Order: sequence, then structure tokens, then C-alpha cells
Amino acid sequence: MKNFKIAAALFASVALPMSASATELEVTHWWTSGGEAAAVAEFAKAFDASGDKWIDGAIAGSGGTARPIIISRILGGDPMGATQLNHGRQAEELIEAGLMLDLTEVAEANKWKEVINPPSLLDACTLDGKIYCAPVNIHSWQWIWLSNAAFAKAGVAVPTNWTEFAAAAPKLREAGIQPLAMGQQPWQSSGAFGVLNVAIAGQDVWLKVNKDKDEAVAAGPEMTKVFEAAVEAREMAKGSNVQDWNQATNMVITGAAGGQIMGDWAQGEFQVANQVAGTDYTCLPGLGVNKIISTGGDAFYFPLNDDPEVTEAQKRLAALLVSPEVQVAFNLKKGSLPIRGDVDLAAANDCMKQGLEILASGAIIPSGDELLTPDTTGQIEDLMVEFWNSDTMTAADAQAKYVEIIAAAE
Ligand code: GAL
Repeated sequence: MKNFKIAAALFASVALPMSASATELEVTHWWTSGGEAAAVAEFAKAFDASGDKWIDGAIAGSGGTARPIIISRILGGDPMGATQLNHGRQAEELIEAGLMLDLTEVAEANKWKEVINPPSLLDACTLDGKIYCAPVNIHSWQWIWLSNAAFAKAGVAVPTNWTEFAAAAPKLREAGIQPLAMGQQPWQSSGAFGVLNVAIAGQDVWLKVNKDKDEAVAAGPEMTKVFEAAVEAREMAKGSNVQDWNQATNMVITGAAGGQIMGDWAQGEFQVANQVAGTDYTCLPGLGVNKIISTGGDAFYFPLNDDPEVTEAQKRLAALLVSPEVQVAFNLKKGSLPIRGDVDLAAANDCMKQGLEILASGAIIPSGDELLTPDTTGQIEDLMVEFWNSDTMTAADAQAKYVEIIAAAE
């Protein structure tokens, strides 16, 4: 961590439009796809323009790769200035260890409690009454993205729901098109399962299992239907030999695949590819079955630092990330919804507009990151990797293992 002080003489001579000193902050995140990089560049641009300096600490790979690196650096006494994490329980242990900056004063000065919507986003940053993160977007997992060209090639109407999508799979295969694109990272197969869960069993069952950890419901007939749908989806995903989520999204963008169950960060990839929602691709919130938004998303956390100038710069960055102008610039590129209702997203595309309407209707559920500990999330991911890559694990086998995980969840 370095502080570059701009000498008064230099400052006076060139009249830099900056404060007397610019503080560098190293910011870690895992946004390395085309859309993600375009979005995070908006944060860097705004922070630099404000007179400080964003030192980009992008970590390639998914959150599953980046989070252990981020957490071990903070625990190991080599903290970054700021880091992306998903808001919710991922930073719980770091906060409890007293390693993270309390942002309550910033939140109060900028009236976060009044402007951040839904309030659950700020709740997900709050522990023991103090606020430890600046939420920056709402990312919902509850979407499937469809290639209009793929269905045209297969001679099938673009599906309006999961049942029609599943019914179209054989025609897609006949046309040489991969029905369902899926990357091979654990969080992707686990995320897709969660979306099927909400769509097939409904939000009440999903909440009973993920919020109440109700093992009887986890073992019940509604969840059996979800695991049976997951067996169907597993068949549709066979042949999707890509690793990263955005490689799977690219299969939809190029028409090589019919669809991908993925969070709305996929939008950023369609935008970078200059594809138009409704024309080139179709989005179905809640798989067209249960129009719902899960209020997951990203937030920035600020590890404690012993340099008061760094601490002041951390507070300036936290305030900047939540500001209206930065919220619009970032979320339009990220494909996510803003964390405040008082911004004008006139440029939002059809899919983002659907998301904003669902959000306004109140049809929302928390994200798994808000309800499950990283340990439980990891166990479910391990089960899902085994299930999605198996030819023999039955719905009943998978459900039995799932019940054990839920029964032991905190
Ligand atoms: C999520 C994150 C999103 C998106 C996705 C894929 O955890 O909230 O912003 O980038 O990972 O990298």
C-alpha cells in the first residue's frame, strides 16, 4: 500500500484538479469476463476522477477461486484496500475477527438506510448493528438466457418457460445444437440447481429448505420433483464441455447452445457482443415459471488498515460506489440492478426492465449467500458437481445426500 503525495509545489504549478494528496487503494475482485471488466472499469474511472487512485487487483477465475485468496490475504496480515465479495455471510468470520472497517458512519452520512432498496441489501452488510459493506448491485440467479437463432435453426418457437425449453431439447440436438450450456465449476451447477428449485418447487419450499433448514421439506415430494427436473437438465447439459460461466454464455451468444441457466451478470456478455434483448436473445426470469428476483449481488468490504489516510480513502470509495451516478454507470455495464430506487435506468434493456418490474412488485427472495454459510454452500457445491457429472447418481441418491447437508446446516 503506498501513498503518493503530490508535492505542494507540483500541485500549485499544474493546478491538478485533485485533492492535495491522492491515496492509492488496491481493490481485489473476480470480474475478468468482457462484461465484468467493462463494468468494474466504471468504478475505477470514478474513483480516479474523484482524486484518489484505483489499483486494480483482478483475480482470474470465479468467486470460488478468488475468495480463498482474498480471505487468506486479510487473515495473513496483507490486506488489500477494498475487496468485492458477495454480500451476505461470506465475510462473517472476518468481521467477527475484527478485521473489517466499520462503515456505519459513512452509511449514516450518506443516508444509506433511506436510499438502499430493498433494505435487505443493507441488512446483508450488517452484523451486530454495524454496517461493514457497501452493496453495489442486485444480481439475481433466477434467469435462463435463450439464443433466438438456435431455436430458429431447430425449427422450434423460442420457449416461454422451462417445460417448453425441456420439450425443445430433442429438436435442438437434432439440429446439432447443445440444449443447455453449463460450465464445469461447482458454483455453476449448484447455482443452476437452486434456480430449478425455486422454479419447480416455488419460493416457499426454497425458503423452508434454505432459510429454515427444514430437513423434512428437503426430503419431501416437492423437492423430489426438483431433483427429477435436475436429472432432465443434466441430460440436456451433456456435451457442454466448457469451464467458465462466460464461455457457456458465449455458446448461447453464438447459437451453439439453446440456453443457459445463469445469473443476470450474463447480460454483460450479451452487451459486449452487441446482442439485443428480445431480438437476438430472450431472457426468462424464474425460468418463465415463477417470475422472481433473488437479491444476491456484490458488495465491497474494506479490511482494517493502520494508515489513517488509507482509512479515509476507503470511506471515500465506499460512499462513491453507492452514489447515483456511479450506480447507473456500473450497473448498466454489469447487467445488474442498482441498489437504490432513486436512479434513472432509462438505458436499461428489456431484460433489465423485467428485473426492475419484478423487484418493484416485491417478488423477491434472498440469495443463498445470505442464508447459507460458506461451509454449507461448499458442501452443496460438492454434491452438485458429483451429481451433474454422474451418469448413475439418481434423483433419490442426490436428494438423500442433500437432506443430510441441510440437516447439519447452521
Ligand atoms: C458472482 C458475482 C457476479 C458475477 C459472477 C460470475 O458471484 O456476484 O458479479 O461476476 O460471480 O463471476
